[in-house]
Amino acid sequence: MNINTGIASVFNQDVDFSFFLIFTISILCLVGITGFMIFSIFKYSKKNNPTPSNLEGHTGLEIIWTVIPTILVMFIFYFGAKGFIKMRTVPENAMEIKVDAGMWWWKFTYPNGLEQNTEQGLTVPVSTPIYLPLHSADVIHSFYVPAFRVKMDVVPKPLGTKDNYTWFEAIQEGDYDLFCAEYCGQNHAQMLSKVHVLSKIDYDAWLAGQTSEQKKLQSESPGKALLLSKGCFACHSSDGSKIIGPSFKGLFGKMETVVTNGEERNILVDEAYIKQSILEPSKDIVKGFQPIMPPLPVSEQEIIDIIAHIKELVEE
Ligand code: CUA
Repeated sequence: MNINTGIASVFNQDVDFSFFLIFTISILCLVGITGFMIFSIFKYSKKNNPTPSNLEGHTGLEIIWTVIPTILVMFIFYFGAKGFIKMRTVPENAMEIKVDAGMWWWKFTYPNGLEQNTEQGLTVPVSTPIYLPLHSADVIHSFYVPAFRVKMDVVPKPLGTKDNYTWFEAIQEGDYDLFCAEYCGQNHAQMLSKVHVLSKIDYDAWLAGQTSEQKKLQSESPGKALLLSKGCFACHSSDGSKIIGPSFKGLFGKMETVVTNGEERNILVDEAYIKQSILEPSKDIVKGFQPIMPPLPVSEQEIIDIIAHIKELVEE
C-alpha cells in the first residue's frame, strides 16, 4: 500500500510510518474481532448448542490478550516517540525564520530583516534545516504544512513563558500549501499561504532581490511597505475594488457613511478618522462592511506614513 504523496521533508517517512502502523493494526483488529464475533454467532447459536454450558476463566487466553496488545502499544509508542523527538529537536546549523501569526495573516522575518506576508509566502532553500519560532499576536493559530507533516500551534505567550517553535527540512523543490489549522475567527480561511522551496542558488538570488526591493520601497514609500508587510492589502485594495474592507483608493477626503453604535452618520475621511480606524477599527464601521478588522498596533510615525500613502492613492 502506498498512499504517500511524495517525500517533501525529512519528517514524511517517520510520520507516515507511524500512521500506517496504527492504521494497519486498527484494520487487523477490526477484521479479526468482527470476523471472530460473526463466527461465534453461528458456531455457538442456540440451534447448534441447545443446552447452555458454564464457561470458566482461561489463564492462558488472558495472558495472551494482555501481552499481545501491550507489545503492540509499545511498538506504536516507540515509533511515535522516535518521530516526535526528531520533530522537537532542532539541528544546530538550522537557519532561523521568525513566524508571526495574527488575525488573519502570517509574517515571515528573515535573518537579514526581510519580511514576507501571507500572499508572498515562506520561501526557503532546499535541504536546509529551517528553525521557526512561532509567535502569535492575538489568539491561537496553527502552522500547518501538510506536505511536510508539520503542524504546530502558535500560542499567544503567557507571561514568563517561551514561544512555541517548530522546524523542518524540505527535500524537494516546489510550492506547498501552508494553512492555519486552528479556527481563529471569521477570516481563519484567509490564512492560506505557500511554502516555496527553491534550490540554494535560486534562494540566494531571491533573497538578494527581495531584500533590495523591500529596502527601496521602505525608503520611497514607507507607508506602502508597512501596509504590505502587515498584509493589509489582503482586505483593502489599492485600485478601488471592494474586497473585505473599503479600498484605499480615493479614500482620503471622501465623505463616508459609517455606523457608530448602530447609528448611521456621515463623516469626512481625514487624518483623525484614518488614525482611529487603525487603532480602534470597530468604532465607526463603513456602511456595507463587517466589523472584523483587529486593531493594528503601530507607532505614531507609522500612522503618518500610512496616511501619506493613502493620500497618494487619489481617484483619477
Ligand atoms: Cu489563524 Cu486560523
